[in-house]
Amino acid sequence: MNTTRPRVELLPIFEDNYVFLLIDDDTQEAVVIDPGEASKVMTYLNEHGLTLKGVLITHHHKDHIAGVRPLIEKYPAPVFAPMKNKSQIPDGQFWVQEGDEIDLGSMHFSVMELPGHTLGHVAFWNDDLKWLFSGDVLFGLGCGRLFEGTYEQMYNSLQRIKNLPPETLIYCTHEYTEMNLQFCKMLSSLDDSPITGDDEDLEMYENQLLNLRGINMPSVPLKLAIETKVNPFLLAHSLEQFTYLRELRNKQ
Ligand SMILES: [Fe+2]
Repeated sequence: MNTTRPRVELLPIFEDNYVFLLIDDDTQEAVVIDPGEASKVMTYLNEHGLTLKGVLITHHHKDHIAGVRPLIEKYPAPVFAPMKNKSQIPDGQFWVQEGDEIDLGSMHFSVMELPGHTLGHVAFWNDDLKWLFSGDVLFGLGCGRLFEGTYEQMYNSLQRIKNLPPETLIYCTHEYTEMNLQFCKMLSSLDDSPITGDDEDLEMYENQLLNLRGINMPSVPLKLAIETKVNPFLLAHSLEQFTYLRELRNKQ
């Protein structure tokens, strides 16, 4: 019988990506999310004697999928990827969409479709742990760029994240929080700032962020309860305001 909770290992790759390994130490099984590169994952699996139970893909961008083939050649495992990206993810095996449930050993996920960054973007929700593996939808103090979707799609996707339980931890794929902090500070310095958040909350966030990053610790996972107080894209209370903020951020 399982006695411990799964844990998440963050493997930094490229300049600012994270690959997530969800690990059940009781069963020595792991699930990997968005392996943009395989070598660090393979080293970790090998060194810790873990069995790979599955690969989850949030969207088709190369920095999320390029490691899938070398990984599954060495560690065969089912690959779950968004149905709407079927033609763009050559190594996908099982195509998932909104509401699908995935069971991999002791680990369970339900699929949320969150379009905007890309049209087919999905996130993987673990309801037992209140963990969301959200790819490039929400970032610390920011959100993903709109490469394919509309402002309305992205706004609605962010609203869905905002409505998850407040204790939710968000595992987003990029370490962008410090960069996004500069945008937030610029916003709060504007005379007619559209942001309704409290400056003290942002200051507290900044202190914690700088402490973490100062010792090279990730700002991920994000705490939803905190992010909803300071992230301008979650504070936006209308599609119009979200669009204005996203356009402003694009110019930076
Ligand atoms: Fe992306």
